[in-house]
Amino acid sequence: MDNVIDDMSIPSQAIISELEKLRRQIEHHNRLYYVQDQPSISDAEYDRLFDRLLEIEREFPELIVPDSPSQRVGAEPSKKFEPATHRVPMLSLQKVTSPEEFLEFDRRVREGLETSEEVVYITEPKLDGLAVELVYREGIFTEGSTRGDGNTGENITPNLRTIRTIPLRLLDSTADQYPLLEVRGEVVMHRSAFEHLNRELREGDKPMLANPRNGAAGSLRQLDPSITASRPLVFYAYAISDTDIKDLDSQSKAISLLKNEGFQINELIKEVRGTSAIEKEFADLDGIRQTLDYDIDGLVVKVNSFADQNILGQISRAPRWAVAWKFAAEQATTILEGVEFQTGRTGVVTPVAKLAPVFVGGANVSNATLHNEDELFRLDVHIGDTVTIQRAGDVIPDVVSVDKEMRPKGAKRVTFPKVCPSCGQTITRAAGEAAFRCLNTSCPAQLEGQLFHFASKGGFDIEGLGGKLAAQLIAKGLVTSSADLFRLTKEQLLPLELMADKRAENLLAAIDHSRSTELPRAVYALGIIGVGESVARLLAQELGSMEVLEKVAIEILEGIDGVGPVIACNIREFFDNDSNAEMLRRMREAGVLFPDYTGSGSVAHLAGKKFVITGTLSKPRRYFKNLVEDNGGKVAGSLSKKTDYLLCGADPGSKLDKARKLGVEVIDENRLQRLLDG
Ligand code: IVH
Repeated sequence: MDNVIDDMSIPSQAIISELEKLRRQIEHHNRLYYVQDQPSISDAEYDRLFDRLLEIEREFPELIVPDSPSQRVGAEPSKKFEPATHRVPMLSLQKVTSPEEFLEFDRRVREGLETSEEVVYITEPKLDGLAVELVYREGIFTEGSTRGDGNTGENITPNLRTIRTIPLRLLDSTADQYPLLEVRGEVVMHRSAFEHLNRELREGDKPMLANPRNGAAGSLRQLDPSITASRPLVFYAYAISDTDIKDLDSQSKAISLLKNEGFQINELIKEVRGTSAIEKEFADLDGIRQTLDYDIDGLVVKVNSFADQNILGQISRAPRWAVAWKFAAEQATTILEGVEFQTGRTGVVTPVAKLAPVFVGGANVSNATLHNEDELFRLDVHIGDTVTIQRAGDVIPDVVSVDKEMRPKGAKRVTFPKVCPSCGQTITRAAGEAAFRCLNTSCPAQLEGQLFHFASKGGFDIEGLGGKLAAQLIAKGLVTSSADLFRLTKEQLLPLELMADKRAENLLAAIDHSRSTELPRAVYALGIIGVGESVARLLAQELGSMEVLEKVAIEILEGIDGVGPVIACNIREFFDNDSNAEMLRRMREAGVLFPDYTGSGSVAHLAGKKFVITGTLSKPRRYFKNLVEDNGGKVAGSLSKKTDYLLCGADPGSKLDKARKLGVEVIDENRLQRLLDG
């Protein structure tokens, strides 16, 4: 028999040592290049090392180990991701959006720690990518997963291996020091890399990525790791899940440990004592964030000491020792997938951008307004465009710019329609106006918008009557004006979609209850253009009843401080319109009361006084706000030297301290009542 052992397949000790040396060298150069951004050898030199590594591994496949640099690209595509359970749950962060809320967080921390001293915090940018966990056993990267629901994510180990800033082997560790180390952090795609990649995708006529965050998420969740390997992803480490490692007693030490083990650490992480330094840090970061090469959406503030973290513990899914202080207005880029034209309650036709969903200003956004024809023209919007959107507070996000360079080939320009998208009637643009309007008074979309507005919180406040139900009521012909709501019967409601017995009864009860809605709300609910909640209250205050408002002369309206000629004209036109008069008549017939205004009207005891409200009161804040405004006062959101009174309920928080500092008079509900009584 021939000799079956092929001498050539047994690696010599020299080969084994060479291989180990190559791996160490390659990972060292990876780190210099990717983490420290300071390469020390040429690309050609690096390729030579890598080629030699591949050559040896090809010859002796049994020598391939999971932490070999070759394994960053090698794995086979998988069919689906396996679940991966996190040993320690991956929590989320509580959020704050104002200095007051942040100070409140700090106050709770100090209360929990029973200290009045300033707390030492670590501040970190809140990276807008994808949170992942990396598990190192005996110093070797063995498993990595997404956050998932916090308890169980998806095992994406082969994909994570392709990320050069993830060490395959810990640098400094001795296996017995960290038999198990779980590292957490964020995978992000740098903006520059994102733009470069999108340009390539566009040139190759491939679907583009909406924004860097979606780029990172989409690239990581590829079943074929070779696609992930081709995507420029970066991992920033920010936590170790175990806090019981010897000598590891703070977040700052965890960060240095991670750095020493070869992880990329964000350069803006700081140790900060006390709240005023953090307020400054927040402002500084907000100021420079557009200049960074990665998206961030706030500042994460963590109590530094692990002992203190343990004392504070967690509430539901978020630790009490950390908070994400989110930036207010925010911009993000995404892709415009289409434009829909919508007719609102006043007949104005608005172009609405349909976007690839993007997280901006603390919410997922998939719609943004393009305002009107002029704006479409100014932005020169095409379908498939890469657009920047902005969201400030609770307002509807809008499209602020279009990146024309990123426009796909053959993209179609968006033009304004000639007819109403709802009723098909020709729409018109009046001279001097930006808006196209549908003038058809029985246009279903307008009616739907009117019903929704009529029933809204500031109006008749009919709970359970949302946009979907309004659309059904109109489509079924049950309602042709808001007045018809008061004639609905259970038999009519029951055949509607998702309308069970109980829901129909509740809705009818809410409608019934709303028959006695107070005057300012009823005026607002009519939806007269320019008459928002405060103008409606003014009108009620000045005129006292719906009957007077219906007949009042335009000169008197114009004379009301805060009304002005345009709104005055709108009001007159509204009541002079026959179908509106008919609607009001039918409402009265159906039992709507329009009670006379009972606020103190011209005897405005709080005239000119400025209030701020804080803490828990006996009724909702809205009630007290209305009460103050009904009596001529104003209510602001934050305190200043100009504030006259802080109306203060239970558990007031930081506003109380601030009021005292500013010398603002603090009053309770009883004192407010005495002020009202004059
Ligand atoms: S710490 C218990 N640090 O924010 C602490 N999270 O809402 C939880 N994030 O899913 C994480 N930058 O994706 C932490 N420097 C940072 C972060 C950060 C971004 C994300 C992370 C997580 C979410 C928590």
